[in-house]
Formats: sequence, C-alpha cells, structure tokens
Amino acid sequence: MFLTGNVKGCFVKGYRKACIGYNKLFKHLKVIPVSKFHNLDPEEYCWRYAEWEMEKAREFDMKFAPYLDIKGKIVLDLGCGFGGQSIYMALNGAKKVYGVDVDPRRVEFSRKLAEKYRISDRVTFLLSTDKTLPLQDEILDIIIMNDVFEHLIYPKEILEECHRVLKRNSQVFISFGPPWYHPYGSHLKSIFPGPWSHLLFPEKVIVGIRNDIKRDGAGDKYEDIGLAKMSVRKFRRLIYQSKFKVAYFDIHMVKDIYPLKHVPIIKELFCNEVRCILEK
Ligand SMILES: C[S@@+](CC[C@H](N)C(=O)[O-])C[C@H]1O[C@@H](n2cnc3c(N)ncnc32)[C@H](O)[C@@H]1O
Repeated sequence: MFLTGNVKGCFVKGYRKACIGYNKLFKHLKVIPVSKFHNLDPEEYCWRYAEWEMEKAREFDMKFAPYLDIKGKIVLDLGCGFGGQSIYMALNGAKKVYGVDVDPRRVEFSRKLAEKYRISDRVTFLLSTDKTLPLQDEILDIIIMNDVFEHLIYPKEILEECHRVLKRNSQVFISFGPPWYHPYGSHLKSIFPGPWSHLLFPEKVIVGIRNDIKRDGAGDKYEDIGLAKMSVRKFRRLIYQSKFKVAYFDIHMVKDIYPLKHVPIIKELFCNEVRCILEK
C-alpha cells in the first residue's frame, strides 16, 4: 500500500513537471493574448464582465436570428452570470426576464446591475441549485443558455427542469463552447496555453496547478471547478434523450477546417461552438 502510494506520488510529480514545462514553452511563444480581465480588482472585474455579457447578448441574438424573438415574452437567462444578458433582453423588449445562477455573488451583483439600469421591476435574479430551477411549472416562453451548458454538472436534470418550467410550444436556445476536446476545452487557457493540456495530463495535475494559482479552496476534480467535460457527442446524446424535440443543431469549427466538420474525431478536436434550439 505504502509503496503503491509512493509510486503514484512520483508519477503525479513527474506529470506536474512535464505539464509546467509544456506550458512554459507555449507561454514563451505567446499563443494566447492577455485576457482583458487580467489584473482587475474584484469589483471592476464584475462590471467589465457584465458589459462583455451585454456585447455577447447582441451576438447571441444575431446567431439565432430569425428564430429568437424575445419581444413581449417571459424569458429565463439560465446561468446568467453577472446579469448582462438578462438586462440586455429586458432593455430590448422582453416583457419579463428571470436570471438564475448557482453562484450567490453573481446573483447579488446582477441585482446591483438591474438597479443601475433602473429595471428591477422587469428583471428578477434568483439563486438556483445544480439540479433545480426556482420557478413554477409552465410559466416561461423562452429559455436561453449562453456559455453555460459545458458547466452543468447535472445536465440531464437541468433539461428536465427546463421542460417543466416552459409553456407548451416554447423553446430553449443554447450556445456553448469550446466543448471538451477543443485545444482549450478546459477553459483554463490563461494558465495552460499549451493546447490540449487537459487531455495530455491527468485531472489531478491540471486541477492541482489551477488550484495552487487561484487558491479558492476548490476540490481536485473538474466538476469541483465547474467543468462538466461536455463534448459534442455527450451533448447530442443528452438532447436527443431529453423530452424536447431538437429543432436545430449545428457546430462551428475553428476557422479554415469547415470541410472536416463531419469527420468524427476532427469534429470533436476542432469544434469551438455548439448551437441548438430545443422545442417543447
Ligand atoms: C461562463 S458563465 C456564463 C455566464 C453568462 N451566461 C454569459 O454569457 O457570460 C457560466 C455560468 O453558469 C453558471 N451555472 C453553472 N451551473 C449552473 C446551474 N446548474 N444552474 C444555473 N447556473 C449555473 C455559473 O455559475 C456561471 O455563472
């Protein structure tokens, strides 16, 4: 037992060194530009992130045009983050917007954002859980999930919840990426600029290095840092096994390799975004 433990420990140390070396190389090559959120104080970070969410909300609208029409509708922004997209939708014609998130600090900040825009009467931010939505049955016209699905630790349960809270003939609009097998599918490219680090090195090593830097007390599994290892294949299986009808499904590739979009492994390795519309 003791020996096995020691041997395992040596392997982890070896992998850790190799992982640091691999990523140092790519850091020198400057393959990843410095994030616009780098070195901001926590308050400033929230405001800047919310602004960025509002920009992304406009893009989300364009991605799903002409199918997404929020005018006069009751909408849920599932995984609302700092509330930017919820506010955007309320300012752009939605009758009522609910924003839900599992992170209490984000929900609290979102409420502050709604106050700033003097729109608290039409936007309600609520704390949800990993598996449930804090809403009554069949009250919504539309659900949107923007860059959330790859973070759902219980995606099957959340899809069931979406089905429960939507009215009949209503829709869920999903866009997320990058999926798990993308070069930066771990969503940790500022720490691991080396492509596919999360596939080349063990989970314990990647999450361990991440935790040493972030020091936020997270556990040593991907799910502890909010990552569901959501591949294109896993996503497809989930939606086709759900109670929804799949009205639209498409994947977007890292540029220049669109012709290879239908080759199974290539599709997973170079897909940077998944888009989908589900119908109740
Ligand atoms: C990458 S952020 C995206 C935020 C925002 N939608 C945007 O477009 O920037 C993912 C968000 O999903 C939230 N989240 C993860 N699992 C969730 C769940 N089961 N229910 C609600 N929110 C969840 C996270 O807390 C986080 O705020």
